[in-house]
Amino acid sequence: AMATANNKERSFIMIKPDGVQRSLIADIIKRFEQKGYKLIGIKVLVPAKQLAEAHYEEHAQRPFFQKLVSFLSSGAVVAMVWEGQEVIKFSRNMIGATNPLASAPGTIRGDFGVDFGHNVIHGSDSLTSAEREIALWFKSEELAQYDLTMQAWTY
Ligand code: PPS
Repeated sequence: AMATANNKERSFIMIKPDGVQRSLIADIIKRFEQKGYKLIGIKVLVPAKQLAEAHYEEHAQRPFFQKLVSFLSSGAVVAMVWEGQEVIKFSRNMIGATNPLASAPGTIRGDFGVDFGHNVIHGSDSLTSAEREIALWFKSEELAQYDLTMQAWTY
């Protein structure tokens, strides 16, 4: 990577209750790992309604807000922070369009998504939302700082 690149960009990525119920955790993590992004935070939890509301606060006036919030707090989610160059924009491309019928094959929603609203995964849509969402879901001590490169056991 170029010396000037920001390899430390972070995005908040969350496997939603439908993704967990459908046993997609490993498949989804594998895609981010294989692309070369670095996992620096991960936890499994059933989000309280309050947390779900805070997460989606920018959509509070939308007609589907209550549905969105009850769905997110209806089961376990996998909340993650992934780090790497342009991870916010690139992970949105990996995730695919909101509507699973419109998302391209090869994207997570294109390959796994079935229903509008139950679309398997969430990814931050901007640097501002990434910073807000990471702070909402993780304490700073829950985020690991480490190197993936130059270890003795790699070629
Ligand atoms: S929009 O229309 O582009 O603003 O929609 P978007 O920002 O992609 O959607 C915001 C989040 O709301 C979810 N969503 C819905 N859920 C249920 N029903 C309907 N109709 C609906 N429309 C949008 C959408 O999946 C987004 O959630 P996240 O978790 O960010 O993907």
